[in-house]
Amino acid sequence: MTKLMIIIGSVRPGRVGLPVAEWAASVASADSRFEVDVADLAEINLPMMDEPNHPRLRQYTHEHTKKWSARVAAADAFVFVAPEYNYSYAPALKNAIDFLFTEWFRKPLGVVSYGGVSGGTRGAAALRASVSALGLVSTTANVEIPYIAKHIDDEGKFSPDERNELMLGHMLTEIVALDGALRPLRHAA
Ligand SMILES: Cc1cc2nc3c(=O)[nH]c(=O)nc-3n(C[C@H](O)[C@H](O)[C@H](O)COP(=O)(O)O)c2cc1C
Repeated sequence: MTKLMIIIGSVRPGRVGLPVAEWAASVASADSRFEVDVADLAEINLPMMDEPNHPRLRQYTHEHTKKWSARVAAADAFVFVAPEYNYSYAPALKNAIDFLFTEWFRKPLGVVSYGGVSGGTRGAAALRASVSALGLVSTTANVEIPYIAKHIDDEGKFSPDERNELMLGHMLTEIVALDGALRPLRHAA
């Protein structure tokens, strides 16, 4: 079984990231290949990166970092739910990523990106550059949702279309395959 952490990358009040992540989590939780942990960065509430040492040393001085480290280390794979902000990805997600280093290493990553006109593609491209520095291995299938507001109903629930569902399915299957391939490499490192 793949321990899948779904990270909600936006923290602002009224964020769409929450219902989008709830959708991804409900699909993955109904799939017997996954044990799902939803990490809501609004709840976790990390301060701006405040560790004195480079994260690769794992000499964390703060309780919030030790907790975040243990939670991420326990995951085999990740899905980042990532809005596009000003042609890039959200600062809370960048901050949460930067806190750690080896905890991400050689683990698969799928991205559910969304935005106004863009489907979050520019944000996802910026994210890809950052995560490659950490040894996260990106899936080729990703969910990209343009005009996200059109998918949110009056109750604030996200309604996926057929293509979103298809791509999420492909992405989850790729995550399982990558998890199998990366586990031995991870243990060898
Ligand atoms: C600060 C800010 C910047 C944004 N920049 C972009 C952008 O560059 N491209 C885009 O397609 N949408 C952009 N949007 C629209 C967001 O993608 C959309 O509002 C989305 O709901 C934000 O995700 P969230 O609700 O989870 O915070 C921006 C929204 C905000 C709040």
